[in-house]
Amino acid sequence: MSTTAYTPASGRAEWTGLYDLALPLLTRERRWRVALAHAVAPEAEDTILDVGCGTGTLAVLLARTAPGARIVGLDPDPAILARARAKAAAFAASVTFLPGFARDAASAGFGFDKIVSSLVFH
Ligand SMILES: C[S@@+](CC[C@H](N)C(=O)[O-])C[C@H]1O[C@@H](n2cnc3c(N)ncnc32)[C@H](O)[C@@H]1O
Repeated sequence: MSTTAYTPASGRAEWTGLYDLALPLLTRERRWRVALAHAVAPEAEDTILDVGCGTGTLAVLLARTAPGARIVGLDPDPAILARARAKAAAFAASVTFLPGFARDAASAGFGFDKIVSSLVFH
């Protein structure tokens, strides 16, 4: 694997648009996302990083749970970040989405109180 390669959310770039449709069919998405957000326990003063944020569903949920928190979504895939930004805008959720790999987190320009990641590490 090259140092810049990544696997797109749905496995293939042309399937990216299916990701948000497939996930609730393949997993109990609502249940585990809410449980994960509960575990993160976002608070207004937190800066929270979502590594491999994908379409931003968790980041948006965190932002809506704690509106004062700074939520940062990091993902190397520009196509999925476009979807994440559109989702955050649709929900009027304040999330900063940055392009980059997990290894870039330290140079994201923020210090993080909490770091979360879902469906990224295998
Ligand atoms: C299966 S999706 C999960 C997306 C989101 N976390 C979720 O819960 O729906 C995996 C995501 O990890 C991203 N990714 C792949 N390699 C990565 C890496 N080295 N660092 C950060 N993100 C990565 C992909 O671009 C993709 O958006």
